[in-house]
Amino acid sequence: MKAIVIEQYGGKEQLTEKEVPTPAPGDDQILIEIYATSINPIDWKLREGYLKEMLRFEFPIILGWDTAGIVKEVGSKDSNFKVGDKVFSRPATTNRGTYAEYVVADESLVAKMPDNLDFGEAASVPLTGLTAWQCLFDFGEIKEGDKVLIHAGAGGVGTMAIQLAKNAGAYVATTASVKNIEFLKSIGADEVVNYKTTDFEDVLQDYDFVLDALGGEIQKKSFNVLKEGGRLASIVSRPDEETADEKGVKAGFVWLEPNGEQLGQLGKLIEQGQVKTHVGHTFDFSEEGLRKAHEISESHHAKGKIVINIKR
Ligand SMILES: NC(=O)c1ccc[n+]([C@@H]2O[C@H](COP(=O)([O-])OP(=O)(O)OC[C@H]3O[C@@H](n4cnc5c(N)ncnc54)[C@H](OP(=O)(O)O)[C@@H]3O)[C@@H](O)[C@H]2O)c1
Repeated sequence: MKAIVIEQYGGKEQLTEKEVPTPAPGDDQILIEIYATSINPIDWKLREGYLKEMLRFEFPIILGWDTAGIVKEVGSKDSNFKVGDKVFSRPATTNRGTYAEYVVADESLVAKMPDNLDFGEAASVPLTGLTAWQCLFDFGEIKEGDKVLIHAGAGGVGTMAIQLAKNAGAYVATTASVKNIEFLKSIGADEVVNYKTTDFEDVLQDYDFVLDALGGEIQKKSFNVLKEGGRLASIVSRPDEETADEKGVKAGFVWLEPNGEQLGQLGKLIEQGQVKTHVGHTFDFSEEGLRKAHEISESHHAKGKIVINIKR
């Protein structure tokens, strides 16, 4: 099968096309013919070698951990899936990712694709949608009436988190630059703080929950907008435990656990029209397409998701 791989860590020029063997599903696994994948910052962080201690992968590495496609083969006899089903998944983090024509995914990480999405839209959902879900509901235990701050609202995780929090009945504030203010209000943000002109800690107080997608100073300042008993989930770096104790809040680092059941629940919300995905950039499945896609993601200013169409 055709794949775009890296043979060593480095810049985006490392992304090169290669013929590799098509994988075969083991028991409880599914072979998916990939129609689309999407880009996430983990892709270029891994490409650069920033995650090499944490994820000790052998080369060549096929990057990409989001997929939508059609079931081609089913490993177990009593599977919930059959050949021909349209599915989407955030497969396990292995060196056989989704910049490829086929991927094998554990059945427990796969869900039926929402009827109202095309493959590109569906591929844009799993990684960011599950991250937002696990931060808000598993870690943050947010509930109706909670005041929730989502940093980097215009990004992949942010657009999902704003909608999921709003759908759960929360009051939602977010941070973004001026060009994204109207967009974020249109998807449910009650308040958008322009981070270029306003310091969010000057205007937001007594929050129940913060999703930190930026780290550093922004994470430190986020403690100041929380009320006692509040929660801070960071998806970029481990928050300081001493500060959390001093402030009387729960703070932690959330690392996404792929989960087909939660993805199915998210898919239902999408089918009901309660959550939408926002694809801001689309590229073809080629070295050039992937390199441009990485460049946009690395700029830290992608709007919504970046999708790669693999098969039409
Ligand atoms: N722990 C995990 O399991 C996990 C899972 C998913 C993602 N992550 C990490 O979470 C981070 C966000 O991921 P993502 O997919 O949402 O990224 P993304 O889509 O690349 O985020 C881009 C967005 O960030 C916004 N932004 C940049 N600087 C900002 C600032 N100072 N204040 C507010 N917004 C700012 C930009 O909006 P403007 O153009 O308006 O500036 C842009 O829309 C990444 O570092 C990623 O690696 C971790």
